[in-house]
Amino acid sequence: MQKPLTKNIEKGRAPFNFQQYSAAGGYLSVAKALAMEPKALVTFVKDSGLGGRGGAGFNTGLKWSFTPEPDGGPRYLVVNADEMEPGTFKDRLLMEHDPHLLIEGMITSAYAIQASMAYIFLRGEYKLAEKNLQTAIAEAYAAGVLGKNIHGSNYSLDICLHTSAGRYICGEETALINALEGKRANPRAKPPFPQVSGLWGRPTLVNNVETICNIPGIVTHGIEWYKALGLNGQPGTRICGVSGRVKNPGCWEMPVGTTFRTLLEDYAGGMQDGYQLKAFLPGGGSTDFLLPEHLDLPMLPGDVAKAGSRLGTSLIMVLDDKTCPVGCIHNLIKFFAHESCGWCTPCRDGLPWAEHIDRKSVV
Ligand SMILES: Cc1cc2nc3c(=O)[nH]c(=O)nc-3n(C[C@H](O)[C@H](O)[C@H](O)COP(=O)(O)O)c2cc1C
Repeated sequence: MQKPLTKNIEKGRAPFNFQQYSAAGGYLSVAKALAMEPKALVTFVKDSGLGGRGGAGFNTGLKWSFTPEPDGGPRYLVVNADEMEPGTFKDRLLMEHDPHLLIEGMITSAYAIQASMAYIFLRGEYKLAEKNLQTAIAEAYAAGVLGKNIHGSNYSLDICLHTSAGRYICGEETALINALEGKRANPRAKPPFPQVSGLWGRPTLVNNVETICNIPGIVTHGIEWYKALGLNGQPGTRICGVSGRVKNPGCWEMPVGTTFRTLLEDYAGGMQDGYQLKAFLPGGGSTDFLLPEHLDLPMLPGDVAKAGSRLGTSLIMVLDDKTCPVGCIHNLIKFFAHESCGWCTPCRDGLPWAEHIDRKSVV
């Protein structure tokens, strides 16, 4: 099985530097992209079928196509590396272990939407990711794939790594934009969507880390290659993972369309001895519980929606038969009550009420 997202990742080994990454076939997509018309590149990514990995699964190229025609003013690409969703740790893996993959994806994506400035909005606690990204960005500038006139073209791009002061709502793309502007991180009303009016009122694309890490493979190897990676006609691979009382918690790259059962039993080694699966959250703390009867569903947004939940970040949290479900949910509610941005009444007032219901009265 091909693993374009994690092929350079080896447990215990430092991330590839610029030379090692390039020798392994890295940065090929940049020259290929620069030889294309930006609009053709957007259509190319749209036709690959890549869906966003930040939670909603919206077609990435289609989202890019909503940016208006360039008018000579600034345009921005923002990588959403906030990753504060409970139980989610996939972007961390990519940034800590293969930072050049993200930078390559950012150059190609920024060119497609004609952005000359790109930001990485990084969760503040991700200190190792910060260090490795800073090193990789400096190497990319030194090698001339970032900065003025990339590969001798007319295209120039700067990347700025911004570490978040730390709030869950900063992961929501419009709150993230406010935070980058130095404002309080409250979401903005949509429309206008960021593609039209984002950072400082200018066209802005916000994409998840894993989404952007898919771009180098798509551009280098083509649409047919990408479409053949998944199961049952699904395009690509994605990073899925498990936390909870399983034998081997972690996250792994697998074909899009893999079932929850394969993830849980083959990758995570099944439940620990003496524990049974009671329920699971399919993609982070904000998704709804699924039951053991849902294990044979493919991990696809549509299939999970039909079962009454959301695929979200595709890192499942397992609830076993010996853990109190009320205690587990109380723990999550406590997190969401604490992290409410306070803008809307049901969340601001409702979550603290739910948190303070006497547990003894409901157990
Ligand atoms: C409360 C909240 C938190 C979110 N947190 C994240 C996050 O940490 N990372 C992320 O990529 N998307 C997060 N999202 C989704 C983003 O708003 C946005 O849809 C996503 O970054 C788009 O990227 P994609 O199209 O590549 O999936 C969050 C959304 C909400 C409502």
